[in-house]
Amino acid sequence: MNYENLLVEKSNFVAKVLINRPNKLNALNRATIQEIHDAFKALKEDDEVKVIILTGTGEKAFVAGADISEFANYSVSEGKDLAAKGQVLVFDYLANFPKPIIAAVNGFALGGGLELAMSAHFRIASDNAKLGLPETSLGVIPGYGGTQRLPQLVGKGRAMEMIMTAGMINAEKALNYGLVNEVVPQEELMNLAEKLAGKIMKNSMLAIQAAIEAVNDNYRDGVNGFETEINAFGEAFGTEDFKEGTEAFLNKRKANF
Ligand code: COA
Repeated sequence: MNYENLLVEKSNFVAKVLINRPNKLNALNRATIQEIHDAFKALKEDDEVKVIILTGTGEKAFVAGADISEFANYSVSEGKDLAAKGQVLVFDYLANFPKPIIAAVNGFALGGGLELAMSAHFRIASDNAKLGLPETSLGVIPGYGGTQRLPQLVGKGRAMEMIMTAGMINAEKALNYGLVNEVVPQEELMNLAEKLAGKIMKNSMLAIQAAIEAVNDNYRDGVNGFETEINAFGEAFGTEDFKEGTEAFLNKRKANF
């Protein structure tokens, strides 16, 4: 499928989704939000895709935020609708996606861009990355989950500071905050993402899917993640993957899932 604002490349069971509006530093307009949803929906059903790498085209930006020119004249109800639809279509959808999503942050990840990276299951960054939630400088607050996911990832005090100052942190500080897991020179970023995808794919994708759900349940109101874990742990015993994984270990060979 062809997209106006995205590139989707597939090889060796890894899909790369690149936000592709380099002239606008990959800013997310509504059309791009819809396309991200459509692309991920297709990847969910695609048996030839196990892991997804999410990044931006060009060397300057991952995503520099929601498209400010698009929402500048929105009313209160349009603003609410923008946040609500975006969260359902993309940010919650990705956070709960059954296949692993690695965000490769290759430059500015601001506002909706950082929120997009935070919706991925984990993040790595190039050493030129700059991350922040500048919304309060525009008279608005993060609307794509930033007020919730940033404190989960970096702690409340650091999140409050980042949101209140509207400033950017560099890759080194993001690493120190635990916002990204690794930082490498830009030319090595995609290699690292592919290497991590390769490591993930050696494991049971069924088990990984269940683990994503259990981890996410820690952050869901009214849901007991420990119970999710117990149930999913039990269910795993009924899968072919469990048979293969344990049999391989006992026979001193590599599992073939
Ligand atoms: N929405 C819409 N357009 C954006 C954008 C955004 N969030 N971020 C960048 N762009 C556009 C610029 O308007 C410019 O377009 P133009 O060439 O048609 O004028 C183009 O992308 C390049 O950006 P520019 O500002 O010229 O690059 P820079 O290197 O001088 O600055 C940033 C880079 C990221 C510091 C700056 O673009 C910026 O502050 N962007 C907005 C970040 C933001 O507040 N995001 C949160 C939105 S909720």
